Amino acid sequence: MKIQIGTKVCITGAASGIGRATALALARMGARLFLADINQEGLDETSRMIRVECGDVGLCKAADISHFEEVKLFADEIHRDFGPMDVLINNAGIALFALVEDMDHAHWQKVINTNLWGPIHGIECFLKEMIRAKKGHLVNISSTAGLTGAPWHAAYATAKWGLVGLSEVLRYDLMQHNINVSVICPGAVNTPMKHSAEILAVDRESGPVQKIIRRFEKHAISPERAAEIIIDAIEKNRFLVITSFDIKALYLLKRYCFPVYQFVLKYISRLLNSMKIKT
Ligand SMILES: NC(=O)c1ccc[n+]([C@@H]2O[C@H](COP(=O)([O-])OP(=O)(O)OC[C@H]3O[C@@H](n4cnc5c(N)ncnc54)[C@H](O)[C@@H]3O)[C@@H](O)[C@H]2O)c1
Repeated sequence: MKIQIGTKVCITGAASGIGRATALALARMGARLFLADINQEGLDETSRMIRVECGDVGLCKAADISHFEEVKLFADEIHRDFGPMDVLINNAGIALFALVEDMDHAHWQKVINTNLWGPIHGIECFLKEMIRAKKGHLVNISSTAGLTGAPWHAAYATAKWGLVGLSEVLRYDLMQHNINVSVICPGAVNTPMKHSAEILAVDRESGPVQKIIRRFEKHAISPERAAEIIIDAIEKNRFLVITSFDIKALYLLKRYCFPVYQFVLKYISRLLNSMKIKT
């Protein structure tokens, strides 16, 4: 789908990082934006940034995507006043890195409710109208953790793998309605998530952890680059999109050279385990 003046795009998690950068890039292309985030202040700032550039914000509303009723209210208001969306970008998410023995039930719930139920709520509330309109594009932002068995990512990977699976099913189910699907699997992207990600049972300030964060920053692409890749996926109808070269290489190793892939993941596992605070 070509993004044109007036193309209606809904983005969750638009208060920060990839969501904000994608909203700004789409606004510059003339899209009409419908933005949601749990963070009202950040959302207002995104909206202000778009308006400074003379972009078009149809509706901007604080909503917690893990609560079906909040997403439904947001979607109903949009459909009543503006009709069906052309593009839905399920982007909002949180990160938690931990070994399973350090997680309690609330950790699992929070991650799955946001990163898997959140996109499901978006799909439930927006897709029927898009199906009636017989056109559209659905984008789900998954992760490298949705394609690999990344150590310390149990809950996060559960949600992100689910999102890859869901996207693949919908790719075929929605074809008959002229709706395309993209699932984006970012590698490292330099966003505030590197600070907000919860890491259990490690000392964040310790040398080895800081070293990993620096390595992450060195490899990371900018949120603006991630936004370009997402928009390209919509315009060229790409299904599975991996944003970084290193992750593409890892995924190829998994498919075509499994022993080497296993070796890499075992190395990462040992490295992360060595950082766990001994009790
Ligand atoms: N940054 C990375 O390296 C990276 C890598 C792989 C995947 N991702 C994925 O990309 C997406 C965007 O992440 P980002 O890096 O821009 O992070 P970010 O923290 O900058 O942005 C995430 C946004 O989601 C919002 N959010 C969180 N929980 C929410 C909820 N319950 N309801 C509504 N909004 C909520 C946050 O307030 C925030 O504005 C996420 O789904 C993340 O898992 C990021």
